[in-house]
Amino acid sequence: MNLTAARNALRSASRVAVLTGAGVSAESGIPTFRDAQTGHWARFRPEDLASPDAYERDPEMVWAWYAGRYQDVLRAQPNAAHHLLTQLEQRKRAGFFLATQNVDGLHHRAGSGTHGGQLVELHGNLISGRDEVTGEIFPLPAPEVLATPPSSPRGHRMRPNVVWFGEFLPEAALTAAQDAFATADVALVIGTSGAVYPAAGLALETLQRGGTVIEVNPTESDLSAYMTFAVRDVATRGLAALLEQEA
Ligand code: OAD
Repeated sequence: MNLTAARNALRSASRVAVLTGAGVSAESGIPTFRDAQTGHWARFRPEDLASPDAYERDPEMVWAWYAGRYQDVLRAQPNAAHHLLTQLEQRKRAGFFLATQNVDGLHHRAGSGTHGGQLVELHGNLISGRDEVTGEIFPLPAPEVLATPPSSPRGHRMRPNVVWFGEFLPEAALTAAQDAFATADVALVIGTSGAVYPAAGLALETLQRGGTVIEVNPTESDLSAYMTFAVRDVATRGLAALLEQEA
């Protein structure tokens, strides 16, 4: 498949499913996880920060890290790639589904999920906390006034509302994503290393059912071998090329 055929497939698709990873927010200034120099996991060991054991050992340290990232994502702005995905939803309406592994909330702030399509945050988000007793999710206070660990309105301690290593994904979000990818005419895989399952497996469901799978990533990922076509560019320019827009 070439770029023209990929554009045509995307234009004529009635059902489009999109998987995004940290790379889609890189141009908003948010570090990825696996970049060799700037990635979170180049500086920290995931098991020290993003695991139930780490939280049990030292909730203060884990909260300090998440509170810092919460502050950083609120200062960041959605970039052209987030906005282009909202435009794609405006064209496809109920035929648009976006599953993000990102916890930065930038797709939501760019308006995804509000034009007839659906947005699911497979790994949770940084802007809310989860009551450790009831499991209810509440928005966090503004970063300037966030005391950690925070308490829920029920008076219980809250944990970060993110999925940690070894934990299950929110079931409803994952099932909805699996259905959407299995029935998509075209799946877009943008800015993810494809290293973390089950999210990474979603596009393979589209492929198995005979759909087209297109990657946007400046470098090869663990999923590249399965792609029908790849745009080897950053998310903003790569998506603009696919959607025939100015970068
Ligand atoms: P990674 O850090 O593993 O991968 C980021 C990907 O983005 C890489 O493939 C880069 O080549 C690509 N990339 C970098 N800059 C880009 C740009 N400007 N445009 C497009 N792509 C770019 O991040 P994820 O795949 O999102 O999980 O990581 C998956 C999960 O691992 C995360 O959700 C997180 C982490 O541990 C949890 O926290 C549960």
